[in-house]
Amino acid sequence: MTDWVPVCSVAELLPGEFRVVWDGDTAIAVYNVDGEYFAIEDTCTHDGGELAGGELHGFEVECPRHGARFDLRDGSVTAPPAMMPIEVFPVRVEEGTIYTRDDR
Ligand code: FES
Repeated sequence: MTDWVPVCSVAELLPGEFRVVWDGDTAIAVYNVDGEYFAIEDTCTHDGGELAGGELHGFEVECPRHGARFDLRDGSVTAPPAMMPIEVFPVRVEEGTIYTRDDR
């Protein structure tokens, strides 16, 4: 397990926006959905596409490559062609800065 990785300040991640940071070899996409923060591994389980930049539908992100959808809250698949869930990571906010980490 690694230390927490700073993402950005809360002022830099507004509702509907995302930021990508790296924790070692893991790309983590951090989203603000209506003031709640969620962090996922930025890798689609269908064919390895980046999820960051995909359309948001409520708490779901749509993979830009083939349209699979995942729930940001638990990583579950909500639309094919992906079959396997994505990893979700913890998020914390301290003194106005958002942090995440690959806690596997
Ligand atoms: S790579 Fe994401 S749906 Fe195919």
